[in-house]
Amino acid sequence: ATERTLSIIKPDAVAKNAIGEIIARFEKAGLQVVAAKMLQLSEEKAGGFYAEHKERPFFKDLVGFMTSGPVVVQVLEGNDAIAKNRDLMGATNPKEAAPGTIRADFAETIDANAVHGSDSSASAEREIAYFFSADEICPR
Ligand code: CMP
Repeated sequence: ATERTLSIIKPDAVAKNAIGEIIARFEKAGLQVVAAKMLQLSEEKAGGFYAEHKERPFFKDLVGFMTSGPVVVQVLEGNDAIAKNRDLMGATNPKEAAPGTIRADFAETIDANAVHGSDSSASAEREIAYFFSADEICPR
């Protein structure tokens, strides 16, 4: 079925000048960018996004990393978009990511892991609404 998912190109990948290469992978896999913007996240905005991880030991580092430079947030649309994006990204830990995945090719560590993607339809819905109002999404 046609789905939407939230993708974030994280500060490490933006710093590497890899925005275009990463978006090209989404497009080549049949996903369409239906919304996009570059943002410098505040601590509050990053912390709210990752609220489910608040009690985890890595939360502070995660928020520190996500506010260390600009990110590019996008809504990707397409058939099976949530799973397709996760396949393209590879495992959360780039050391475990399959060859040819975005994290295998662009990420160094589990913290600086190049991209985020929604992990379920419920989180996709929440995460898209967290960054985009309805009039910022442009179905094609
Ligand atoms: P992301 O998909 O953006 O969701 C939470 C992020 O926390 C994850 O990617 C990782 O970059 C980061 N993280 C750091 N340590 C861990 C860990 N032990 N388990 C899961 N995520 C971690």
